[in-house]
Amino acid sequence: MTPAPSSGPSPEPAPSRARRLVRARPEPGFTIETDGGTVPVVPGQTIGAALYGAGIRSWRATRSGGRPRGLFCGIGVCFDCLVTVNGVPSLRACLTEARPGDRVATGDAPARPPERSSGGRREGTRSPGGDGPGEAGR
Ligand code: FES
Repeated sequence: MTPAPSSGPSPEPAPSRARRLVRARPEPGFTIETDGGTVPVVPGQTIGAALYGAGIRSWRATRSGGRPRGLFCGIGVCFDCLVTVNGVPSLRACLTEARPGDRVATGDAPARPPERSSGGRREGTRSPGGDGPGEAGR
């Protein structure tokens, strides 16, 4: 099978991309609160990435068996990484961008989030029900 000809702009040569990354000047980091401690965050990191970067590999347990859970898929599919952020339960840490001043509570997240008014919905909000497909068989 022959690949279809590209109609878009040709990709930037790899050496140029690499040089641009080397010169990157990220904004200053900040910290978030987690269960009374603090975790450093690089701007743009998700809460899951910040926890993982701080050496925290699991932050809740399964309802049956109490097995540890943290980042598993890292792309919002398994729901293993649920956290409560600023009082909003059941957010996927792998999809929720950390913001300065965030207070993250780990541990067993409630099964159903409370009813919320429209707006203020953060990326990573889960739909209610179960621990997700990542729970099965593990
Ligand atoms: S790690 Fe799978 S949903 Fe977050």
